[in-house]
Amino acid sequence: MGEMQAPPGPIVCVVGARPNYMKMAPLLHAFRATPALPGVLLVHTGQHYDVAMNERLFADLELPAPDLNLGVGSGSHAVQTAEVMRRFDAVVDDIVPCCVVVVGDVNSTLACSLVASKRGVPVVHVEAGLRSYDRTMPEEINRVLTDQIADVLYTTERDALRNLEQEGIALERVAFVGNLMIDALLAHKARAHAPHTTLRNAGVEASFLEHAEGFGVVTLHRPSNVDDPDALGEAVALLCDVARRIPLVWPVHPRARANIARFGLATALERAPIALLQPQGYLEMLGLLADARLVLTDSGGIQEETTALAVPCLTMRENTERPITVAHGTNTLVGRDRARIEACVDDVLKTGGKRGHVPELWDGRAASRIAAHLAAWLATRVPRTGHSLA
Ligand code: UD1
Repeated sequence: MGEMQAPPGPIVCVVGARPNYMKMAPLLHAFRATPALPGVLLVHTGQHYDVAMNERLFADLELPAPDLNLGVGSGSHAVQTAEVMRRFDAVVDDIVPCCVVVVGDVNSTLACSLVASKRGVPVVHVEAGLRSYDRTMPEEINRVLTDQIADVLYTTERDALRNLEQEGIALERVAFVGNLMIDALLAHKARAHAPHTTLRNAGVEASFLEHAEGFGVVTLHRPSNVDDPDALGEAVALLCDVARRIPLVWPVHPRARANIARFGLATALERAPIALLQPQGYLEMLGLLADARLVLTDSGGIQEETTALAVPCLTMRENTERPITVAHGTNTLVGRDRARIEACVDDVLKTGGKRGHVPELWDGRAASRIAAHLAAWLATRVPRTGHSLA
């Protein structure tokens, strides 16, 4: 008789930063509802740690508290990535996962993929193949490298497959499953908080939402917009101009808030019809986005959410890794170009702005497709034994 095979370890699911949570929540629920899959362990690297960036979103998304929090915190890219690797290495050692599931493109995504792959643990990357083709974006480096070492790659749009093919990735490793972000949106939309409640809770006067044109929503946090004084100064001046035509609600990311103060831009903003809020929960944000006339953002996820909600999105970047939102959705790339922004705002106020349709498979069922595919994939694998480089 051969040796008894050890039962497969759990699936280790990794989150690190805010945009990971809305993808992992539907996935965890689907994994737990799939009897063919092994157990699931949720690991939080601690890349994001503020209550506003974490606990509120976990509660809104009905994400269980992480089984482990590695408490890594902020730091330079090198320090943060290295620290996640060091701490996640010990987790892989202890747990011996059957696979590690990572989502998106944050530093934690790459760090945990590297650790798992070097220990022979299969890496599953959700939201694979997105490319901005802009290597000055830290996320682009994370995307390219994670996809290279991933064993299973789940994509949200067909362009992603072409990007992966160009980078020599074997297509049998890739499955087009749809968009987890939209699973979360559809699951929670009915419970979204009304904007007037969100603004009242933030101490903003009720009259703010009584403007004849409605309101717009702003989010900015990319280093290319908020880390350089000239860039952030330009962005703030543009937003103040837009706000003269339609009032703006801006939940301010900690990175942007720190730099607004540091570069002396707070006074200009406070004088404009712009409500500056703390980072909001998922249900508050969903309510704001759903009711907005337009959204100005540099976020990746919000480009997708506005396309699903049919709200015009002006993306303050020169490129996007999510071209389907421009080709099929409501997204327009405007950078920090005054003329482009003015033309888009004109169009929104006169005609309602760009219309689009919801992309293929953004139907709320991405998580169950992934769970079914992963169960079949794990079942075909010969369990590895003793594969460790330690
Ligand atoms: C990270 C991701 C980015 C994602 C964004 C969403 C990378 C490379 N970047 O960027 O892709 O779109 O999260 O928010 O992974 N800070 C706090 N509290 C927190 C977390 C951060 O105050 O809970 C402050 C710290 O001063 C920190 C700064 O924000 O230095 C930046 O945080 P960091 O995690 O390095 O990057 P983000 O800009 O949040």
